Amino acid sequence: MSEIASTDPEGVDGVRMTWNVWPRTKVEASKCVIPLAATIALIRASPDIPRLPYAPLRCKTCTSALNPFCRVDFTAKIWICPFCFQRNHFPPHYNAISETNLPGELYPQYTTVEYSIPHSDPNPIPSPVFLFLLDTCLIEEEINFVKSALGRAIGLLPDNALVGFLSFGTQVQVHELGFSDMSKVYVFRGSKEIPKDHILEQLGLASSVVSGRRPINKGGVAPFPNSAGVSRFLLPASDCEYTLNALLEELQRDQWPVPPGKRPARCTGVALSVAAGLLSACSPGTGARIIALVGGPCTEGPGTIVSKDLSDPVRSHKDLDKDAAPYFKKAVKFYEGLAKQLVSQGHVLDVFASALDQVGVAEMKVAVERTGGLVVLSESFGHSVFKDSFKRVFEDGEQSLGLCFNGTLEINCSKEIKIQGVVGPCTSLEKKGPSVADTVIGEGNTTVWKMCGLDKSTCLTVLFDLSSSDRSNASGAAVNQQLYLQFLTSYQSPDGQLVLRVTTVTRRWVDSAVSTEELVQGFDQETAAVVMARYASLKMETEETFDATRWLDRFLIRLCSKFGDYRKDDPSSFTLNPSFSLFPQFMFNLRRSQFVQVFNNSPDETAYFRMLLNRENISNAAVMIQPSLISYSFNSLPAPALLDVASIAADRILLLDSYFSVVIFHGMTIAQWRNLGYQNQPEHQAFAQLLRAPQDDAQAVIRDRFPVPRLVVCDQHGSQARFLLAKLNPSATYNNAHEMAAGSDVIFTDDVSLQVFFEHLQRLAVQS
Ligand SMILES: *[C@@H]1O[C@H](CO)[C@@H](O)[C@H](O)[C@H]1NC(C)=O
Ligand SMILES: *[C@@H]1O[C@H](CO)[C@@H](O)[C@H](O)[C@H]1NC(C)=O
Ligand SMILES: *[C@@H]1O[C@H](CO)[C@@H](O)[C@H](O)[C@H]1NC(C)=O
Ligand SMILES: *[C@@H]1O[C@H](CO)[C@@H](O)[C@H](O)[C@H]1NC(C)=O
Ligand SMILES: *[C@@H]1O[C@H](CO)[C@@H](O)[C@H](O)[C@H]1NC(C)=O
Ligand SMILES: [Zn+2]
Repeated sequence: MSEIASTDPEGVDGVRMTWNVWPRTKVEASKCVIPLAATIALIRASPDIPRLPYAPLRCKTCTSALNPFCRVDFTAKIWICPFCFQRNHFPPHYNAISETNLPGELYPQYTTVEYSIPHSDPNPIPSPVFLFLLDTCLIEEEINFVKSALGRAIGLLPDNALVGFLSFGTQVQVHELGFSDMSKVYVFRGSKEIPKDHILEQLGLASSVVSGRRPINKGGVAPFPNSAGVSRFLLPASDCEYTLNALLEELQRDQWPVPPGKRPARCTGVALSVAAGLLSACSPGTGARIIALVGGPCTEGPGTIVSKDLSDPVRSHKDLDKDAAPYFKKAVKFYEGLAKQLVSQGHVLDVFASALDQVGVAEMKVAVERTGGLVVLSESFGHSVFKDSFKRVFEDGEQSLGLCFNGTLEINCSKEIKIQGVVGPCTSLEKKGPSVADTVIGEGNTTVWKMCGLDKSTCLTVLFDLSSSDRSNASGAAVNQQLYLQFLTSYQSPDGQLVLRVTTVTRRWVDSAVSTEELVQGFDQETAAVVMARYASLKMETEETFDATRWLDRFLIRLCSKFGDYRKDDPSSFTLNPSFSLFPQFMFNLRRSQFVQVFNNSPDETAYFRMLLNRENISNAAVMIQPSLISYSFNSLPAPALLDVASIAADRILLLDSYFSVVIFHGMTIAQWRNLGYQNQPEHQAFAQLLRAPQDDAQAVIRDRFPVPRLVVCDQHGSQARFLLAKLNPSATYNNAHEMAAGSDVIFTDDVSLQVFFEHLQRLAVQS
């Protein structure tokens, strides 16, 4: 276990912090420039986390769970809570405890434990529900791709999974799967919002809210309050595979005529409401997900993002900026309502968007993110980004995403600490408490969050503040040396168990007004870069006229002024402690990245990039900001290369991983030899091997990642080479850069080389 802890920056707890030593006061914290924040990989699997078959002991005052940081009086059988200092008596069944006989949750190394709580409910483990929602306004080729992907998915579902099927175009069709010979379809108009009651009524589920439960049916399927009703639409996978495949076979493109120059009428918004309405007939908290497969923009009814007129383009970032996107705000509002409904039901929305044009991911983002859903954006249902990602959702075993349901996160902290909010896939449950900060960032105003869906890789960012009372002068001896945070995550695991995971972490307070040395040692630059990227993205989305470049530059200059070593007004004297030395380059790449330079992408792409930035772990998020580059050449092992055009060479192969795409780039000579087929000649084995190595490494990355990245294989001077060039530092073009931006606090507004960026940073940081 110590071995893992030393090689894995997140450790067993899955927690990383911008600062690992905390300043004592709010004033000192604000001087640290980079906010106090923690990221937590909520349910990351680890063999070093014990599963305890009972419920935790809770402090009677503050409800935090017993943990290794509690002081224990073994003779008096008392534990002292490190959060509120309450003395708690152990209950009788802990009578046998002693220094040498500890329960799992008190072992010093078990700072993270999982409690597997026995079902109090006499009913069996609830089955997961997969409600597929298929866009039929597609060209024939796309519909065939998506049908075969769906067919494969259904074959992979566990037998007890419940499956439902809706299709939509101009209207919504809810397919009853209960009768294999005579399939019945309920049709809803797509032009108007339909209240939930009407949906239930029309589906014959209205009288369904009878209390009491039906008996268990033969498949051991979890019962719903309304048996005869919902089970006409949601069938165990084992019972409906044939029906579903037959249905897919017969499924046609939307039959409504599309006039020339028009877009098809596509009622995505109503279709999603109908799906949510149908699921509302299931018990709350049932692990259910709507899996929406969308191939174009919503043009009909609520959620519309563009008119049916093809001459009217889908909104761009420029339109959003100029407030010239007439449908945007209304559609977002609609999806906020849908998000609220889904969260109250405990259900998840996943969106698989495949189209050359935008489909409205930017508008739907709120519903996906607040429910903890998955999102995959690709250009076609035939593209490997869609096909392979979609398959992963249903795969079992090692490759499984580990989809969990009905998650709740509770955070407890030492009383000096206030929680501003959480950035990532969750919803605030608006449960206020003494540790809620006044200023809200992201999902705030609470100490409890809901994650209808979460998985092995779900990672959240928590932003903290300190209470404004001045504690540096706290009364005498009892100044606390350590601060504590406890994360309590409860969820339903893929095998249906109810699990409560408790992670308790501690860090040291330091009087940073006296010395900054310890503070500096505790800075985690990679985490800080990711937190700044998430924070900047959030501000870009929520604050009009927010200038991210300028904002990031100010942060960076302040950070360098505070923590750099220099003589005032002497740029050449500037040096930066190794704890900070990588940070400016992260900021340089962040400023150039898709997160800040949004105008190079569509709003759908930006929304997609941001959702993944916010939910992935720190190492993955760092690669999104600052791609990794590996160089392969003869006579040397593969080695990391500088993210710089100077790394390109004719006799090299480069492998770039920018998370969303993986690029294999062949230098000119390599490409020529390959075109001449040298790799096929027995005397050129080494060349064949050189060609293969980056391919193998790329496949290893692709295999592990969800969504599956786009693989680009290209040659120097080829058209696809831009995928690499766009990410490299333009060191060769900085000749005129010295003339720019003198005397402003903005380092640069345009593409500038890293070296020039550094020069300006140093000059501004040392300015008195
Ligand atoms: C969902 O989670 C909540 C809060 O943890 C819990 O009270 C409820 O019983 C769970 N529901 C199901 C169906 O597991
Ligand atoms: C711990 O969390 C619970 C639930 O959110 C809250 O009621 C309690 O006040 C918290 N205690 C501390 C010390 O943060
Ligand atoms: C937080 O709660 C306060 C009052 O309780 C409310 O006025 C404010 O709008 C809430 N903020 C957010 C972001 O929800
Ligand atoms: C520190 O506390 C002492 C007494 O408790 C008080 O007299 C003094 O003014 C305080 N100093 C500051 C800076 O708050
Ligand atoms: C981050 O997630 C990836 C999978 O997406 C995993 O391979 C990697 O080990 C994780 N990193 C850490 C530090 O947990
Ligand atoms: Zn307590």
